[in-house]
Amino acid sequence: MHVAIIMDGNGRWAVARRLPRSAGHRAGAKAVNAIVEEAARRNVKTLSLYAFSAANWGRPRAEVNALFTLLRRHLLTQTRRCLEQGIRINIFGRRDRLSDDLLRVIERSEQLTAHCTRMQLRIAVDYSAQHSLLAAAHRMRLESDAGHARFAEHLAMVDHGASVTPPVDLLIRTGGEKRLSDFLLWECAYAELHFVDCCWPDFDEKAFAAALEEYSRRERRFGLLSPAPQARAGLG
Ligand code: IPE
Ligand code: IPE
Ligand code: MG
Repeated sequence: MHVAIIMDGNGRWAVARRLPRSAGHRAGAKAVNAIVEEAARRNVKTLSLYAFSAANWGRPRAEVNALFTLLRRHLLTQTRRCLEQGIRINIFGRRDRLSDDLLRVIERSEQLTAHCTRMQLRIAVDYSAQHSLLAAAHRMRLESDAGHARFAEHLAMVDHGASVTPPVDLLIRTGGEKRLSDFLLWECAYAELHFVDCCWPDFDEKAFAAALEEYSRRERRFGLLSPAPQARAGLG
């Protein structure tokens, strides 16, 4: 199962407490660990977290710096824990606008956990689904008979994916907004969407478990007919 999360609402969490937005991001970074561990416990095979979008570069310089400092620290302190738990780390998105120092930290985390197979933790940094789709389309342009699977391979390559990304089964967004904000547009084609009002720093294992529980009761049809109503209506 692939779960993707748009971790939104850090700023509002902080403002509600009369704290600077950076305090919200700190609290948000803390909230990540519990969800990662809970996902692994619940047999999620791929967990994709939206940490920094390409559009987020437009925020004030100090906030952008705070976010990257937190990301760097998170990778430096949490990689060992991931390794112990069999969690493979992969950062996806553009790399050409990241600092050399951060790139080294990213590569270290990816290399140290490259053999882990229990769960893949994918963290989106400088990510824009539209940018990735466009870059993959450019790579495809000389392959006239290439199909869906080949496009997914190109997409994985432009995203620096360790392998082709499986389709998202469940997309969770915290913070109350009901939009995708340029996250995994291709991979979410048939994702079940789950929007929660609580801000990301307050999203805990219980809230995550509730999202999985609700997902388990959804009927996924992928454009087909569900057997029960078809039988009832006698349309077979
Ligand atoms: C999500 O929280 C973190 C990032 C986008 C990096 P926000 O910072 O967007 O928080 P709100 O939406 O302003 O509350
Ligand atoms: C989406 O949140 C990006 C991340 C969570 C990293 P934003 O706060 O940037 O999205 P918008 O601006 O509400 O669409
Ligand atoms: Mg936001």
